Amino acid sequence: MPDFPFPTLTAEEAAEMIPNGATIGFSGFTPAGAAKAIPLALAEKARREHAAGRPFKVGVLTGASTGPSLDGALAEAEAISFRTPYMSNATLRKQINSGQVRFVDMHLSLLPQYVRYGYLGPIHFAVVEAADITPGGGVVLTTSVGVSNTYLRLAEKVLIELNAKHPPALLGMHDIFEPADPPTRQEIPISHPADRIGTPICVVDPKKIAGVVLTDLEDESSPFEPPTEVTERIGQNVADFLVGEMRAGRIPSTFLPLQSGVGNIANAVLGALGRHPEVPDFLMYTEVLQDSVIPLLMSRRCTFASTCSLTLSPQAMRQVTANLDFFRHRIVMRPQEITNHPEVVRRLGIISMNTAIEVDLGGNVNSTHVMGKTMMNGIGGSGDFTRNAYLSIFSCPSTAKGGKISTIVPLCSHMDHSEHSVQVVATEYGVADLRGRDPHERARLIIDKCAHPEYREQLRDYLRMVKEGHEPLSLSLGLAMHRAFLRHGDMRNINWDEFR
Ligand code: COA
Repeated sequence: MPDFPFPTLTAEEAAEMIPNGATIGFSGFTPAGAAKAIPLALAEKARREHAAGRPFKVGVLTGASTGPSLDGALAEAEAISFRTPYMSNATLRKQINSGQVRFVDMHLSLLPQYVRYGYLGPIHFAVVEAADITPGGGVVLTTSVGVSNTYLRLAEKVLIELNAKHPPALLGMHDIFEPADPPTRQEIPISHPADRIGTPICVVDPKKIAGVVLTDLEDESSPFEPPTEVTERIGQNVADFLVGEMRAGRIPSTFLPLQSGVGNIANAVLGALGRHPEVPDFLMYTEVLQDSVIPLLMSRRCTFASTCSLTLSPQAMRQVTANLDFFRHRIVMRPQEITNHPEVVRRLGIISMNTAIEVDLGGNVNSTHVMGKTMMNGIGGSGDFTRNAYLSIFSCPSTAKGGKISTIVPLCSHMDHSEHSVQVVATEYGVADLRGRDPHERARLIIDKCAHPEYREQLRDYLRMVKEGHEPLSLSLGLAMHRAFLRHGDMRNINWDEFR
């Protein structure tokens, strides 16, 4: 029998406690450590309420994206009124883009502070997955921290999913630290990715714990697609570039800690770095650890990884749980307020590596909105890292949709990362190092090194038309390639006169 004084509930009983209109802070980060049983039951409750003609929607706050049991089930039940800070579920994406769900896309590091200051209203419930819970309200989190520590502290009521898939021996893999708010905030005393500054557990006021639901559900991380020639070439280009920087003395021979985004390109870049004979053993200070890092940690190519989540396939997770004594000394999971904190990112001299939807000739990056207005997932942590990194890199394939879209465009249709923060752009064709270049030099470099050959001449035509001014910008033609795609289904062979 469980050794805690809190009521044991079914997921349905827990869901019954949550009323229409509640704001819930869930655990979960891409989608590691997400609550699963209670949101599934909540989706069922929403369907029942809707069938009975009663409204039922909740505000959903998490660490980052979650899986089918949380964002998926709640979106399909039309049970989400408000969502922040990041998501990647197709149904929810449609509801956000149709205006059915209010979505606030924000820097992940800022969310806990927003919650503390009450910008998002009161947190009525924290619904958090745990590997263990003590009678005094000590909670051992599972495969992510996200914002769980802040939700547990501030929520009016707490519901715990105690998940037997995650062993209590995860104790010791988390480092929970929440900064004070200004004017009493102190420095965050991390000067090495392995530094521990907090506690291994979250401590919750036991009076707030409304119940514990026992579960046995695996994390819902999506499998990776096999690498393609394009992702492999991007990975190799980034690895070769970083080796060149090391040879030039701009990266020390001990290397610098790496942050790597989520997805297939990020996986390919890390794989290429791990294989490169001239890249020394390295550290990671990142927000997401994917499968590719586990063999690198086991072979000691990656000597330590600080992360917010273990976004691993079930097989990779089993490898970690079977070797917890090894990994406890090589991985630490922190709140996203700390993994993504500008102060620490700047101090450690991070090399940030994220993926773009499109890059413009000025060096601005769009990470979030297709054709300027359709939300893809959100900015996630890319801005937290990019703005403060020692070296910020954006990668993407040079084209999308079978070549009909160039990811190198005259002007981004939405801007997440400005020319002042983006230092290096990489595609399968090459790497443009924008540091120290003026806007026209940047534009020429991006075309020559990164654009797909089929688009280079038309991008040069654009540049010839915008010779005047500090920025290579035409107010009328900046978005002409996007307009050509929307009108003709293809950005290639544009007739610029059609869009003047
Ligand atoms: N125009 C239209 N569609 C585009 C596009 C463009 N310029 N660039 C990419 N796409 C589409 C692709 O065709 C693909 O569509 P599909 O799902 O229908 O096949 C989709 O966007 C994803 O692109 P893909 O090349 O597979 O890249 P990805 O899975 O690595 O995702 C981002 C790229 C930018 C969407 C993703 O990295 C992201 O959400 N980034 C923001 C968050 C972030 O960077 N976090 C950092 C730390 S984790």
